[in-house]
Amino acid sequence: MKISIVGGGYVGLVTGTCFAKLGHDVTLIEIDPEKVRAINKGMPPIFENGLENLLKQNAGKRIHASTGYESVTSAEIVFISVGTPPKPDGSANLSYIESASTSIGESLKNTSAYCVVVVKSTVPPGTTEKIVRPAVLRAAGKTEEEIGFAMNPEFLREGRAVEDFLHPDRIVIGSSDPRAGNRVAEVYQDIEAPVLRTGLTAAEMIKYTSNAFLATKISFSNEIGNICKNLGIDVYEVMKGVGLDPRIGPLFLNAGAGFGGSCFPKDVSALVSLAKDAGEDLILLRSVLDVNERQPHRMVVYLENRLGSVFGKRIAVLGLAFKDNTDDIRDSRAIPVIQDLLDKGAHVAAYDPMAGPVMQNVFPSIEYASSAADALRGADGCLVMTEWPEFSRLDKEFDLMAHPIIIEGRRILSRNGVEGICW
Ligand code: UDX
Ligand code: UDX
Repeated sequence: MKISIVGGGYVGLVTGTCFAKLGHDVTLIEIDPEKVRAINKGMPPIFENGLENLLKQNAGKRIHASTGYESVTSAEIVFISVGTPPKPDGSANLSYIESASTSIGESLKNTSAYCVVVVKSTVPPGTTEKIVRPAVLRAAGKTEEEIGFAMNPEFLREGRAVEDFLHPDRIVIGSSDPRAGNRVAEVYQDIEAPVLRTGLTAAEMIKYTSNAFLATKISFSNEIGNICKNLGIDVYEVMKGVGLDPRIGPLFLNAGAGFGGSCFPKDVSALVSLAKDAGEDLILLRSVLDVNERQPHRMVVYLENRLGSVFGKRIAVLGLAFKDNTDDIRDSRAIPVIQDLLDKGAHVAAYDPMAGPVMQNVFPSIEYASSAADALRGADGCLVMTEWPEFSRLDKEFDLMAHPIIIEGRRILSRNGVEGICW
């Protein structure tokens, strides 16, 4: 099928590359010319396991990138995967969605074939119907018999996005008429997974609800972890016992420094904000965010309990990415921790296998070590912020520290004498 995708970020690029692997003919429409150049050379502008190989195999053949919307005129289906970043009040900024919709509509003005516009970005319920559909139809001067609309949320975990795309738990297709939904289903026909057909707004809400529930599991585990630490109980033993109940399940019960990333914090805030506009106060989800905001600061408190003031002390921060296997630092729990340390006058020596260069944009003046050992050398304390597998293999590197005070925000180290945030 001929597919155009607007937005060549994490989601758009992974989606487009995987569609190309499935044999579709894909054009990525991306506003940033540097990303376009990189994609066309087969070099993903982001790190994602397995992506580079797939892109190299298909770039210039079944996948092309462009800054213009020309490909839309011959597309059978157009996906929108531009970002929906949070506004200061937590609500989703839909201006990119709106402008992409208008540009798609303008490109469809003089076409005669039926085309389906699919929203893949995470958007508040009602966006596809009330913003995307009117903007596209207005700009195209067409009716819904000529252009169909669908909402097809993504459930891709960064670092495992290619695998999640090719082997999903489910494919959710929301549409207001079956013809539009059928076309989306066709694109996925070679992927084996349960397909759930819903209305547009239910599909939009499924994405928010899934992320809100997963975030709730994490904040819940963190809250239990905080009290378990206080009582001298191992929260990981507790959650193992709890997770064996199939009604609860074992996943996303890992207590630690809290959740970061481009989705959980943003989507839960957006849900709270849209509920507020509808006159509902989502007390539970507000608390989920509150627990998550407080959690990373506990790392510094435990460090100070052991070390005393961090003023003038060298503190190694291991892990800057919001989780392992990515260079993404969006809402990384390392950010508030480093800010706390800097506010208290510490010298921060940071190391991450991948995310150092991007973090330099946030904290240009801290030290960026080129290995964990370099960060640890002479350190008075160490905070482990990301669940990178390479950190779990660290051992004698900790002997390089001036004072072996290690606080773990993710349960990955096997060394004795390490204090955990919740254990
Ligand atoms: C996606 C979804 O869009 C978001 O709603 C979801 O919650 C998380 O995943 P993501 O792919 O991670 O976002 O965002 P980002 O990496 O910022 O990619 C968006 C891309 O769209 C960027 O490359 C940006 O340059 C591009 N863009 C933005 C356009 O091409 N045109 C625009 O008008 C705006
Ligand atoms: C998430 C969702 O999982 C995915 O389905 C959605 O589409 C996009 O958002 P992602 O943000 O890539 O994916 O990462 P995820 O693996 O879910 O982890 C998010 C954060 O939660 C990370 O900071 C991670 O460290 C933290 N986490 C995860 C925990 O603290 N405990 C856990 O048990 C699991």
